[in-house]
Amino acid sequence: MSEARPLLLMDVGEALDALEAHGGPRLTPRGYELLDDGRIADGPIQRLRHAAREAARRRRWYRESERELGQWPVVVWPGEMTAAGQRPVPPSVVLHDCGDAMREMHQSLLPHAAAFAGTRLQPTMSYGPRLYRRGSVLLMHVDRYPSHEIGISVVLSGPRWEMHLVDASMARLQPASETTSEHTHILYEGCRMMHGCPTPLRAQRVAAFFHYRRCEAST
Ligand SMILES: [Fe+2]
Repeated sequence: MSEARPLLLMDVGEALDALEAHGGPRLTPRGYELLDDGRIADGPIQRLRHAAREAARRRRWYRESERELGQWPVVVWPGEMTAAGQRPVPPSVVLHDCGDAMREMHQSLLPHAAAFAGTRLQPTMSYGPRLYRRGSVLLMHVDRYPSHEIGISVVLSGPRWEMHLVDASMARLQPASETTSEHTHILYEGCRMMHGCPTPLRAQRVAAFFHYRRCEAST
């Protein structure tokens, strides 16, 4: 398999337009920080990992995936997934019936998000757990304001994956990249940092996403 180069799939000007439209502030000096597994309460993340594992086992295509995925191209485009000419398969899928564990995790991460943002926050949205198949890419994007001011991406299982971050606020367009893993998660200002994982994933991974907004954020 040849090495695929990262793709920056969102136009920077588009991100700047989005920022100008919503007027989100810069809350932290750098826009993101890594969150080591050891800092997260053990109970909630273990219960979420267990719930995700059980949910994945219930998916029929999960059992088929290893056989099919060997046929996938290096770069897989959302909406155009096929496995060796077979039926279309999605690049990622939400694992259902993890609601209680997701809500518990969302609350348990609130102090970390608030400490990062330096202000009071309230939980807004959560997504997942989402199972990404090998070959998936997460397109570069900025999150919706104000419900997604602060985001936390939690890796539940799977390989390391490089996240690219571009500070699209004002004129500071310094790209950065960080590698997340089962032991290293990431907090970020989702409305300010254009972010994504444009390098095709090397093996199946499960992650969950938690979002917060400032209590005093404008609407
Ligand atoms: Fe995002």
